[in-house]
Amino acid sequence: MKEYVEPAEGKLGILIPGLGAVATTLIAGVEAVKKGLAKPIGSLTQMGSIRLGKRTESRYPKIKDFVPLAELNDIVFGGWDVYEDNVFDAAMKAKVLDAELLRAIQPELEALVPMKAAFDKRYVKNLDGTNVKSFTTKKDLADQVREDIRNFKEKNGCTRMVMVWCGSTEIYQKEGSVHHSIAAFEAGLENNDEHISPSMIYAYAALKEGVPYVNGAPNLTVDTPALVELAKETGNPIAGKDFKTGQTLMKTIIAPGLSARALGVRGWFSTNILGNRDGLVLDDPDNFKTKEVSKLSVLDEIFRPEANPDLYSELYHKVRINYYPPHGDNKESWDNIDIFGWLGYPMQIKINFLCRDSILAAPVALDLALFTDLAKRAGMSGIQEWLSFYLKSPQTAEGLHPEHDIFKQLMKLQNTLRHMMGEDLITHLGLDYYQDLVESMH
Ligand SMILES: NC(=O)c1ccc[n+]([C@@H]2O[C@H](COP(=O)([O-])OP(=O)(O)OC[C@H]3O[C@@H](n4cnc5c(N)ncnc54)[C@H](O)[C@@H]3O)[C@@H](O)[C@H]2O)c1
Repeated sequence: MKEYVEPAEGKLGILIPGLGAVATTLIAGVEAVKKGLAKPIGSLTQMGSIRLGKRTESRYPKIKDFVPLAELNDIVFGGWDVYEDNVFDAAMKAKVLDAELLRAIQPELEALVPMKAAFDKRYVKNLDGTNVKSFTTKKDLADQVREDIRNFKEKNGCTRMVMVWCGSTEIYQKEGSVHHSIAAFEAGLENNDEHISPSMIYAYAALKEGVPYVNGAPNLTVDTPALVELAKETGNPIAGKDFKTGQTLMKTIIAPGLSARALGVRGWFSTNILGNRDGLVLDDPDNFKTKEVSKLSVLDEIFRPEANPDLYSELYHKVRINYYPPHGDNKESWDNIDIFGWLGYPMQIKINFLCRDSILAAPVALDLALFTDLAKRAGMSGIQEWLSFYLKSPQTAEGLHPEHDIFKQLMKLQNTLRHMMGEDLITHLGLDYYQDLVESMH
């Protein structure tokens, strides 16, 4: 890490593979906020505050006034999609935001036309777009994406860029030998290795062009030794994976509370219905498997049954996603939680969350883009674990358990910001307030 953070001068390009529901809600939201039509609710970088120093000092600046972040007015968006719709048409189809709001920013959104995608149907079976690049080898495909990045930078006069994957969830893949080193990965690009998916090609291209990469989906991408190595070698931050929204957000809020009170949990059944394109993609078992693995890890890490067998060794955790078109992006989720208390007496908690998936995801994507750009200017590269707060399956250094408790994640994020800016870290110990009092009495 550098001793100082470089200022956020000039334009920041946010490049997005996948201009679907989340991306269009993000882009339209930023345009609407810029025009004063709405507020960026749910975004820590825009609305959040941070405590500095002792409680007696009453210093609670806005995060954006404390760390040098790119201004919304300095952001330029760009992206790729397998469908040709411009961002206005794609947002209208996604039906997340009202047509009235979208019409107020129609020219800005219409100007955003997706570049041809690096796509291969084998990795996302339920999609059939035609706005795709032709290629001979995957190396050739990566070179085309690199050229897109360079052209975008030049055309828009960006001083910095970040890439945030908002594309569909790819099929489940385990790490293989092609992911073990950058040399193996580059050989795999030449040989069209089937274990190199389109998202990995975008990530590789971004890192090679000096652009940090954030993975908003649960697929295997930058969480491999090869791309971690490349991120470090090129001095770029990476973060992933899978935006934490909806049901998993609720889980990482409630489970730490139950665990904090040493209440037992015997079962946690989660099911939900959604009808957007994401739901359609996840209707395929191979794509669902990727999401399921991402969602399932959360509770074990919070409850740690091996450390608390009396409370959590019987925990049965099930997650279901059902594609149900009438609900569109307005996901509805149900959780049944079987808990037990004093002397083992059983109780139940029922949660029925009528959420809006992309309304929760858009500010997460914005914050990840702005904080990743900040990290790069602070000289941080490789895995950014302090951004776990926003992610369902946080990427960590090898051998480290991810931290899923949202309150610990927030503390880690805030302390990282304090550390970057040379402020004292806050442990919440608080004893010094009382020691001062005791000393002053003598
Ligand atoms: N909405 C949420 O709350 C949420 C939460 C966590 C993760 N996610 C993930 O974020 C991603 C986006 O979600 P969404 O609701 O916007 O989905 P979406 O289906 O509306 O958008 C995804 C877009 O990606 C495009 N795409 C697929 N492969 C591509 C490629 N190789 N190159 C370029 N474009 C490609 C698709 O055509 C589609 O338009 C999904 O992977 C989803 O699982 C969403």
